[in-house]
Amino acid sequence: MKAVVYSRYGLPDVLRMTDVAIPTPRANEVLVKVRAVSLNLSDWETLRGKPLYSRIGGPFRPRHHILGSDVAGQVEAVGRDARRFQVGDDVFGDILSFMGGFAEYVSVPEKALARMPAGMTHEQAAAVPQAGAIALQGIREKGHVQPGHKVLVNGAGGGSGMYAIQLAKLHGAEVTGVDNAEKQAFMRSLGADHVIDYAREDFTRTGRSYDLILDLAAYRSAADYARSLSPGGRYLAVGGSVATIVRVLLIGPLVGRAGKKVRVLAVRLGVQHLAPLVELCQAGKIATVIDRRFTLSEVPEALRYLGGGHAKGKVVITVG
Ligand SMILES: NC(=O)c1ccc[n+]([C@@H]2O[C@H](COP(=O)([O-])OP(=O)(O)OC[C@H]3O[C@@H](n4cnc5c(N)ncnc54)[C@H](OP(=O)(O)O)[C@@H]3O)[C@@H](O)[C@H]2O)c1
Repeated sequence: MKAVVYSRYGLPDVLRMTDVAIPTPRANEVLVKVRAVSLNLSDWETLRGKPLYSRIGGPFRPRHHILGSDVAGQVEAVGRDARRFQVGDDVFGDILSFMGGFAEYVSVPEKALARMPAGMTHEQAAAVPQAGAIALQGIREKGHVQPGHKVLVNGAGGGSGMYAIQLAKLHGAEVTGVDNAEKQAFMRSLGADHVIDYAREDFTRTGRSYDLILDLAAYRSAADYARSLSPGGRYLAVGGSVATIVRVLLIGPLVGRAGKKVRVLAVRLGVQHLAPLVELCQAGKIATVIDRRFTLSEVPEALRYLGGGHAKGKVVITVG
């Protein structure tokens, strides 16, 4: 089968498309013929080995040689003890712990997969897992957004932000989206009431405060974040620099006065947690915006596009 592989951390030119053996499913695994795989910032980070947390399990060389974690496709074969799916079933999954999606086939434990939601295309299903989990937990389950809340999403023009803005609006919030200049109109099109270009304005220094800050790109001090919260507000760091995440972990609990909470959100990944978001997508209340589609041989170009900060919403690789 064709797969896009790499054996050392670096820029997209370390990737090459090559022929490798089709994996044989182990007892609890399912072999999936990949139809679509969406890109996440985690693919870009694990390609480059930056930030440092992306080297967990592979400090010097990549642990997985084929990236790609949010997949949708068809069951091609099932392992001896795998019971949940049959050959031909359409499935999707978040396989971040295993990777291997930038290939024609991938074999993963059946527990990482779910049946594809009715009415969704493979591309739409592949777009949801990681970005959807971040938005659902950040806005609803841990963000506890209520009607009238002021919500700021930092890094709102990418994959997770695309769902987060729409979800916060559905919950009746007044939403501010922060991202680069190229993504301002896109954030407005998703429903953001206010937008900020992070290169021109620091949202922690405007004097405005928020009931929830969902931060997909955390680079400031815990005290800056605490100052930008309304009494009782919460700040949730999801992605950003390791230094900031560590600071928020250690100092966050100390700077939270007046009921303010400054915390890191450890996202529970897995398609089994996604049902509420999938239902909203199926009902047409939340849209999945696919900015660009690429083929398997174009994975390096696709990653360059995402890593260069151009992707508005999701970037999807269509396979086969
Ligand atoms: N906590 C957890 O458990 C967990 C789990 C999974 C993933 N994650 C992390 O969650 C994040 C999810 O991001 P995603 O998939 O939505 O990525 P994405 O699609 O690349 O979106 C991130 C957005 O943030 C913007 N950005 C970069 N620097 C910024 C800054 N200083 N201020 C404001 N915006 C900035 C980016 O724009 P530019 O193009 O200008 O860079 C981009 O539009 C990743 O960092 C990932 O590692 C965390």
